[in-house]
Amino acid sequence: MENQNLNDFRREYQKGILDKENANADPFKQFGAWLQDALKYVNIDPTAMVLSTVSDNKPSSRIVLLKEFDENGFCFFTNYESRKALEIEKSAYASILFFWKELDRQIRIEGIVEKTNSIVSDEYFNSRPYDSRISAIISPQSDEIKERGLLDKAFEKMKMELEGNDPDRPVYWGGYVLKANYFEFWQGRENRLHDRVVYEKKDEGWKIKRIAP
Ligand SMILES: Cc1cc2nc3c(=O)[nH]c(=O)nc-3n(C[C@H](O)[C@H](O)[C@H](O)COP(=O)(O)O)c2cc1C
Repeated sequence: MENQNLNDFRREYQKGILDKENANADPFKQFGAWLQDALKYVNIDPTAMVLSTVSDNKPSSRIVLLKEFDENGFCFFTNYESRKALEIEKSAYASILFFWKELDRQIRIEGIVEKTNSIVSDEYFNSRPYDSRISAIISPQSDEIKERGLLDKAFEKMKMELEGNDPDRPVYWGGYVLKANYFEFWQGRENRLHDRVVYEKKDEGWKIKRIAP
């Protein structure tokens, strides 16, 4: 394979600015404002976020989709027996990261992850397209499977058994909410002098500061 010089892939960041003074004092409101921009200007998967978990001091990351957010936290849905779920069981500390390259923006959020209640999980599960619900039921996420065909067979079998009826949410599938105690909003700037505004949760409320790029 021809070796491309990765060093040539560089660009300037000139799409906006972020000051401690013009950032919202409430990080959830600041997130909401940037999410609105992302929904408008990011064409593909604006709600995709990198979820990092850790177990036995070893981090692991993967993308999940943000499905809801408010001051209680950031909600995503997955398999409760997956690798990420087992890691969350061992250590509830996790981080999520959004990268919106169309806007030269990155947001890092850290906190503690908890399962959502079953009503939230049921509601979201039932809102998913029919075939996605079936896939969630038949896929033992993160387990080894001997061949692809086994998944397709299990999918077809489950569909036949259901005869068009709605499936119940399996107990091994549902939501998590990340309760944030740390945010960093990153806005790319010229000459690599990027803006970084951090919010840390303290007893008296959110403390906001600028940090160096
Ligand atoms: C764009 C995108 C969106 C994804 N959304 C989800 C999601 O919302 N929930 C989920 O469980 N996996 C989602 N995945 C798959 C995960 O990245 C991952 O493969 C899966 O959750 C298993 O991760 P684990 O083995 O670390 O538990 C998504 C992947 C991509 C690329």
